[in-house]
Amino acid sequence: MRINLTYTMCLRPYSLAVLFIIAFLPFNGKSQNNFAIIPKLTSLQVQEGVYRFSADAQVQVSPEFKEVAGLLTEHPAIRKVTISHTPGIGKIAIIKATSKDNLRKTAYSVSIRSNGITLKAWGREQALSAVYTLIQLGYLQNDPAQIGAADITDEPRFSYRGLHLDVSRHFMPLTFIRKYIDLMALYKFNTLHWHITDGAGWRLAIKKYPELTQKAAWRTHITWKDWWNNGRQYVDRGSPNASGGFYTQDEARELVTYAARRGINIIPEIEMPGHSEEVIAIYPYLSCTGKPYTQSEFCIGNPETFVFLKNVLDEVLAIFPSPYIHIGGDEADKKHWKDCPKDQALMQREGLNSVEELQSYAIRQMDLYLQSKGRKLIGWDEILEGGLTAGATVMSWRGEEGGIKSANAGHDVIMTPGSHLYFDAYQTDPRTQPEAIGGYLPLEKVYGYDPVPEAIAADKKHHILGAQANIWTEYISTTEHVEYMVFPRALALSEVNWTLPEDKSWPDFQNRLQSHYKLLQDLHVNYYRPSYNVTYSAVYDTGLRKNRVTLSTEQLNSQNIRYTLDGTPPQLTSAPYTGPLLLSKSTRVSARYFQDSIPIGPLLTFDTDIHKAIGKPVIYNSPWDGYAAQKENTMTNGIQGGLTYHDGQWQGFTRPIDLIVDLQEIQSIHTVAMNFMQMIGPGVYMPGKLEVFISEDGKNFKAIGNVPNDIPDQDPKLTFKRSQLNLDTPVQARFIQVKASNPKRGYLFTDEIIIY
Ligand code: ACM
Repeated sequence: MRINLTYTMCLRPYSLAVLFIIAFLPFNGKSQNNFAIIPKLTSLQVQEGVYRFSADAQVQVSPEFKEVAGLLTEHPAIRKVTISHTPGIGKIAIIKATSKDNLRKTAYSVSIRSNGITLKAWGREQALSAVYTLIQLGYLQNDPAQIGAADITDEPRFSYRGLHLDVSRHFMPLTFIRKYIDLMALYKFNTLHWHITDGAGWRLAIKKYPELTQKAAWRTHITWKDWWNNGRQYVDRGSPNASGGFYTQDEARELVTYAARRGINIIPEIEMPGHSEEVIAIYPYLSCTGKPYTQSEFCIGNPETFVFLKNVLDEVLAIFPSPYIHIGGDEADKKHWKDCPKDQALMQREGLNSVEELQSYAIRQMDLYLQSKGRKLIGWDEILEGGLTAGATVMSWRGEEGGIKSANAGHDVIMTPGSHLYFDAYQTDPRTQPEAIGGYLPLEKVYGYDPVPEAIAADKKHHILGAQANIWTEYISTTEHVEYMVFPRALALSEVNWTLPEDKSWPDFQNRLQSHYKLLQDLHVNYYRPSYNVTYSAVYDTGLRKNRVTLSTEQLNSQNIRYTLDGTPPQLTSAPYTGPLLLSKSTRVSARYFQDSIPIGPLLTFDTDIHKAIGKPVIYNSPWDGYAAQKENTMTNGIQGGLTYHDGQWQGFTRPIDLIVDLQEIQSIHTVAMNFMQMIGPGVYMPGKLEVFISEDGKNFKAIGNVPNDIPDQDPKLTFKRSQLNLDTPVQARFIQVKASNPKRGYLFTDEIIIY
C-alpha cells in the first residue's frame, strides 16, 4: 500500500493584506513556501512555521549516511556541512529509520519544523532521495535559506529510472556529463545509460586496443551530418581535421565515482554486433570481407571477434561496477553473414537456421561471459529475434511489443519506446525548431506515458523495471542542444517513473513545472522554453454532425489564445479561447497566442471540413503500407492528420495511391481535395500529381482533372499541402476515384479525401 496523497494547507496568522497577496500570486515560484517538487511527492502535509538554514549546516548523521550528508553542500543556501554523530547535535538530522518509524524500505521521510529538519531512510538510496528533495526545495524558494514546515513521505514507483546519452555521434566533455548527472540526481533518476561506442566514434580508451582511440575516436568532420554525408572516414588523432574525442579509463572511473556518490549507476553500452563500423575500419580482420569500410557488423563466425569483445569487456568491467552491461544488439544488417563462409560454417556447426539465430548465438556468448563475471546483459529488443538468451534484460525501443513479449516470457524489461521516450524527436511544430532526426514528442505525451502496458500478464508486470529516455545525438552536436532536447521532457519522465498513475495529473504537473523554469534558469540549463505556438485537433463528431476543434498552447493560460472563424487574422479584440469549438459547417480557423496585448506567437490557420465523403466507404485499389492509421476509415472519418505521421490519422503508401469513394448515391460534386505532407529526411514526399475520376456505376470512370505538385522535392522543411481540384461546372457522380503518383518512390502520406 502506498500512502495516500494529502495536501493540507495550514495558514499562519498573517495579516489580511498578506493573505490577499498569497491568494493572488500566480503559482510561478514567487509564492512563499513552494513545495512544487518534481517528481510529485507521494505525501505532503504542510505545517505551520518555517526553518532557516545557516550557511554552515550542522548535521547529525547515522554513520552510514555520512557521505550522503556531504551532498547538502549542493543546497543553494548551504556552503559547508559540519557533521556529528552525536544525537541532539545539529539542526539537520539524517538518520537510519527504525521499525518505530513505520517507514517502507523503499521510502524516505522528511520532517521540517522551525527548530530543525529530520530525514529518515533505511538505506543509502532513500537517504539520497531525501537529501535531493531538500536541495530541490532550496531551488524552488525565493529565499533558498528559508523553507516551510512540512511532513513528507515519498517513494518511487519503479526501481530503474534512466536517461541515456549518446556520446559517439557527438563527443560530450566530462564537465557537461557531470552537469547532466547533477540534474539527473536532482530529479531522482538513478541510471545513466552511456552509449560510448558506435559507428561515429569509439569513446573509451582500451589498453589492449589503443587504435580504438588513436583513430576510431576521430573523424573527418565535426558534425555527424557532415561526416555521414561526406565519406564517413576516420582519421588519426592529432591530424589537422581530426574531430571527436575519448575518455581515458581514469576519467571514466572518476565519472563513475562522481555519479555513484549522487545515487546514479552508469551502464556502459558497447555496441555489437552492428553499429561497429569504427572498429571494422581499424581492425578489418573482424569483418566478413576482411576489408575496412565495407560493413558495420562484426563477423560472428570468426573466433577473433569474441577474443576482441571479451578483451574489451574485461577492461570495461574493471571500470564500471554496474550490475548491468549493455551490449547493443540493435539494427545489425545481417546480409554479410549470409554470404560469409565463416558465418555459414558456424551456423552449420551450431545448427543455427537463420542469421537472426546467428545474432542470438553471439548475444548468448556475451550473456554467458557476463554471467561468469557476475554481471547481467542488457540489449535492445532485436535480441529477441533469434531467441532470447536466458540472462537478458530487454530494452524495448521499437514500440512496446518487444517489452511485452519479454516480460510475459519472464525477462526483465526497461521501456524506452520511440513513440514516447526518444528525446531526439521534435517537441513542437518542426517548422519552428532546430533540425532533429524526426518524430514528434511534446512534453504532454511524455508525461502521459505508462511503462506497464495492459498486455502484460498481472503476474509478470513486476518485470517492468522502469522507463528510460534515449538521447541519440546525430542531430545534436553541442551540450547546449542536448539540454534543449532533454529539459523539461526529463522532468515529465521523472514523474512517469516515480509517481503512481492514479496520482499523476497533467494540469498539476504543468503548475509545478512553472517553478522549475526558475530552477533550470538558476542552474544555467538551456531548456526548451514552452512554445507560443498554437496547435489544434479537429475531430468530426458523427452524432452531433459537427467538428470539435481543440486549440492548445504550452503556455499556462490558454485564454491568451485569440481566434477567428472568418479567415481574418486574430486581433486582441478577437474571441479568447475558453474551450473546444463546435463547428457545424466547414470553417477556416485562425488562432494566435497573445501576451500583454501583443501577438507573440506565429499565426495558425487551418480548414475544418464537413464534406460529402464523411462516413462513406472507401475501396482501396492500392493498399496502405506500414502506416495503417484508422485503416479503411482513415480517408473519410472527418479527422485531419496533425504534425506527425505517427498520429494515427496519416495513412502511408509506398505505391501510387488509388482509392475510390462510394458516396452511395449520385450527387453533385464541385471540389475534390486531399492533404499531403513532405519531410524528405525520412523519405516522405508530395505526390507527382493528384488525378480525379468520376463514375455513376463504379465501372466506367471518366477523368475530370488533375492537380500537379508545386512543392520542390529538395526542400528539407516539413511541408503540408492541400491538393485541391475545383470544377467550374459541378458534375454528377456516385463514385470518385483519386490517384496520386509517387515519382520519388518514397512514402506518400494523406489523411482525408475531401469532397464537396
Ligand atoms: C536504437 O534506437 N537503435 C536502439
